[in-house]
Amino acid sequence: MEAYLPRRDYFPAKLHAAMRHSMFSGGKRLRPILLIAAAEACGATANSVLPAACALECIHTYSLIHDDLPAMDNDEMRRGQPACHRVFSEAGAILAGDALLTLAFELMTKIELSKKTVEKYAAIIEANHILAQAAGMAGMVGGQMADIDAEGEDVNIPMLQYIHTHKTGRLIQGALRVGGILAGAEPEKLKALSVYGETIGLAFQITDDVLNVVGEMNQLGKGVGTDSARGKATYPGLFGLDESKKQAWSLKERGIKALKPFGNKAKLLIEIANYIVEREV
Ligand code: IPE
Ligand code: IPE
Ligand code: MG
Ligand code: MG
Repeated sequence: MEAYLPRRDYFPAKLHAAMRHSMFSGGKRLRPILLIAAAEACGATANSVLPAACALECIHTYSLIHDDLPAMDNDEMRRGQPACHRVFSEAGAILAGDALLTLAFELMTKIELSKKTVEKYAAIIEANHILAQAAGMAGMVGGQMADIDAEGEDVNIPMLQYIHTHKTGRLIQGALRVGGILAGAEPEKLKALSVYGETIGLAFQITDDVLNVVGEMNQLGKGVGTDSARGKATYPGLFGLDESKKQAWSLKERGIKALKPFGNKAKLLIEIANYIVEREV
C-alpha cells in the first residue's frame, strides 16, 4: 500500500493525506490476509496476488471512511484516530473514499500471474467481476443502504441477516473467492471458499455487534455503545449477547467444516475462523 499510494504532500495534498490517514492508522488487514490465505491454500504465492489483496483493503478502507460520515453512522473515531471527515472535512473524506474505491480496480490490472496470457486475463476479469459484485449494489453498498434505512425500525430476522451478510459478509466472501480464482482453484475448492466466506463473514459482523456492546474503546480504536445509541439493527439487539455469541460460534464451525476439500492446507484458514469469533479487537 505504501508503494501504491501517492505521497501525502503530492498535489492535491488533502486528498492523498486523507487516503493515507485512514489507510495507515491501523486496521487488522483481515480481508487481504484472507485473500492471500485462500490463494496459498490453492497453490499460488502471496506475491502473485498482492495487488488484489491491496485492492480489497482499499475497498474496505473506503467503506469505513464513508461509514463514519455524519450522513451515515456519524462516528468520531476510527482505527484509533479521529474519523477521516473530522480531519479532512466531509468533502475530503468523501473524495478520499471515492479515490480508494477506484484505486482498487486500478490495482486489479496490476496482478501478475504465472499463467499463459489468455488464462491470466480470464482469471483477472473474473476476479474483477466478483469484487465489483461484492462491493456494489448486490453486496456491501446494498447492505449499507438497508442498514441505514433500518435505523430506529423494528427489524425482523431475515432483514437483519440481509444487512449483515451484505454490508460485511459479501466483501469477506469476495476476498476468499478472488484468492481462489486467481490461484486457479478447482470448482470444489471454490465452493468451499464460498461457503467458508459466507459463514465467517456473518460471524465477523455478529462479533462486531457484540464488541460494540462489550468491547473497550481503547482497544477497538472506535466508539462503543454507538449501535444502540443510533437504534441500529444488531444481533445482540434482536437475540441478546449470549445467543449472538452462540450463533457466531456455530457459523464459524460450519465454515471450518466446509474447508474439508483443503485437507491439511486449511490450517491457516481454520485459525483465522477461530480468531474471528474470539477476537477482542
Ligand atoms: C470494521 O471492519 C467494519 C466492519 C465491516 C465490521 P474491521 O474490524 O475489519 O476494521 P479494521 O480494518 O480492523 O479497522
Ligand atoms: C460496517 O458496519 C460495514 C461497512 C463499513 C461496510 P458497521 O457500521 O457496523 O461497522 P463499524 O462498527 O462502524 O466498524
Ligand atoms: Mg455502519
Ligand atoms: Mg459504523
